[in-house]
Amino acid sequence: MATKKKKIITLSNEAVIHQEDALKFLKSLDTESVDLIVTDPAYSGMNQHLQLGKGRIVGEYKDKSDDGKWFNEFHDNEENYEIFLKECYRVLKKDSHIFIMFDSYSLITLSNMVRNVFNVKNIITWDKVNIGMGHYFRRQSEFIIFACKGKKPVSRRDMPDIWKIKRIHKSSYPTQKPVELFEAMIASSRLKTDIDYLVCDPFLGSGSSAIASLRQGCRFIGSDISDKSISMTTERAKKFIDEGIDIYQPNSAVDSDKQKIFW
Ligand SMILES: C[S@@+](CC[C@H](N)C(=O)[O-])C[C@H]1O[C@@H](n2cnc3c(N)ncnc32)[C@H](O)[C@@H]1O
Repeated sequence: MATKKKKIITLSNEAVIHQEDALKFLKSLDTESVDLIVTDPAYSGMNQHLQLGKGRIVGEYKDKSDDGKWFNEFHDNEENYEIFLKECYRVLKKDSHIFIMFDSYSLITLSNMVRNVFNVKNIITWDKVNIGMGHYFRRQSEFIIFACKGKKPVSRRDMPDIWKIKRIHKSSYPTQKPVELFEAMIASSRLKTDIDYLVCDPFLGSGSSAIASLRQGCRFIGSDISDKSISMTTERAKKFIDEGIDIYQPNSAVDSDKQKIFW
């Protein structure tokens, strides 16, 4: 099978994205060059579990590939996942943070491995506010492991470990996350003394983490293997940089009049 040529797109002086496999991308980065990793990997379990039951994929996405999967998956067997975690550790600066998203399946199967590499400090629950699909109990939450390389405090002492942020209804990209979710990660990690802050996401998807970084005034570097992700992120970020408009999430996912927000 022919391998795809790596593509690098400069969105602005502050933001660059690569079309590449996450492990290859991480391996291309310098040691201790990144301030923060925020990421939402494509666990293979996710595709498998969503095809359980009556064999249908939950969701309304028209662009599934012939094998019924939403997107290429990162093969999260233990060996690969360990390489992924160790590469994340290597590229992060001394005394830094990582936020890794998990659904309930991957939380059970893989999250324990994070403790072998990082100093896990908490599991944040993302309360999606609106109920989703699911067998037995319908899903309204996902999880984010928050861990340290070395020691670093968070930016404030009054932040809860449940984040109420509405999921994106009828999203343009499968599993598109709200920008506010990544903004919460960035704002809770970045200290006033952190300058020129570089945020990294090796599983870009629709580019929500890139938009969050731009909104938070950070530099950004990210990657995804899929054509759709790279074209959506490029279009989305350019429109945001030029006109301040987020074409794939025009509305806020948070009722700021009802809720105290920290970002
Ligand atoms: C759960 S989605 C990320 C969604 C994203 N957080 C958003 O808000 O849109 C995971 C992404 O990982 C990408 N992906 C799958 N396998 C990959 C690999 N080996 N290397 C890099 N990206 C990969 C998929 O194309 C997909 O866009």
